[in-house]
Amino acid sequence: MRFNDERDIFFKKRFGMFIHWGLYSIPAWHEQIIWRGNIKRSEYERYVDQFNPTKFNPDEWIDIAKEAGIEYICFTTKHHDGFCMWDTAFTDYNVMNTPYGKDVLGQLAEACQRRNMALSLYYSIVDWHHPNYPNMGRSHEMFGPRKGDLPDAKKYLDFVKNQVRELCTKYGKIYQFFWDLNSANFVDESINEMIRSLQPGILINDRGPGPGDYSTPERHVPEGRVFSIPTEACQSLGRESWGYKDDEDYYSCKHIIRSFDKILAMGGNYLLNVGPKADGTIAQENIKLLRKIGKWYKTVYEAFDGTYPASYLITNDDVLLTKRDNTVYVHLCNEPEVNRVILKPLDILPKRAILLNNGQELECRVDVTPGLWREKPYLRIRNIPVDEMTDTVMVIKLEFDESINE
Ligand code: GLC
Repeated sequence: MRFNDERDIFFKKRFGMFIHWGLYSIPAWHEQIIWRGNIKRSEYERYVDQFNPTKFNPDEWIDIAKEAGIEYICFTTKHHDGFCMWDTAFTDYNVMNTPYGKDVLGQLAEACQRRNMALSLYYSIVDWHHPNYPNMGRSHEMFGPRKGDLPDAKKYLDFVKNQVRELCTKYGKIYQFFWDLNSANFVDESINEMIRSLQPGILINDRGPGPGDYSTPERHVPEGRVFSIPTEACQSLGRESWGYKDDEDYYSCKHIIRSFDKILAMGGNYLLNVGPKADGTIAQENIKLLRKIGKWYKTVYEAFDGTYPASYLITNDDVLLTKRDNTVYVHLCNEPEVNRVILKPLDILPKRAILLNNGQELECRVDVTPGLWREKPYLRIRNIPVDEMTDTVMVIKLEFDESINE
């Protein structure tokens, strides 16, 4: 599973930070408060006169990301509300017309380039503000046009093209283009073609008006043990919202680490979301969670770096394997019930078994166990500290002398 061109960088940058930020950080309830909540569009649009993130400092965002081992940032340039976080010539509904009055995307892009952080752009096709978007009550749409709107798919797509051209020309190198919500089912392959010609080597997701490069499961781990197509799973730290919510209910660190581990061990990438506050800062709860997740990620990083999914080597359904040359990594990504793991049908003794989480050496045997007395000897890893390491995913490194059965 490779593109065999510049896009193969996708398989190296495994951990991204999704950032949902816009006017919706002011009511601080959900990025779709217009659709899910009790607020009229006209009322929401008045937040334009309040948006003033005086503490916005993209370097701080990048510091937080780098500390967690994150290698790219995906930023919401325009969410469903239609508000644009950059200096666009194609609608007044943008950040330049707020009290803040500065190009947020421009500052973020400048900092990312300076700090060697790849930048991806999120863009919603559904638009609750633009007069030409045909709002018809489909998924995540307004129930109809409002007074004065002139629904016109062609004109709207021209607007999208103009904005996308702007995004792909004004802000330097763009790593990925993350389309969201094509509820109108627009088909226009020329837009992705334009993106590719303006940004050679860019990766485009599968939610846009033309074929993309990778799939984007959301808030869940798909069935199976290996992805058959390039995949970037996205997940938010908060259970309820992607934008900042001041009374957010957070996932447990363990839940995030488990889904993170599974997605990566299946060969996918992980895009983990934070929603900055209206003042531009990232809330402490998010920073704390990211630190813990990042600490785990850095400790087990070698199990993902240049490895490929190798769970086909075993029949266990509660563990996943990754592999590089003669090194195999065992991911205990489900709650281990016993302090050993039997890797059936492997029957080769590794030189060494190291628990990456704490560097501890683990004992291995190749033997017949009473539970499997009718079968042949299998590799058994013993004395795993299952009662000590309960809030994490343990990853065991097995170093073999020889190449194991493919
Ligand atoms: C969901 C949410 C949307 C969010 C997106 C991120 O579709 O409804 O608000 O931007 O996920 O992938």
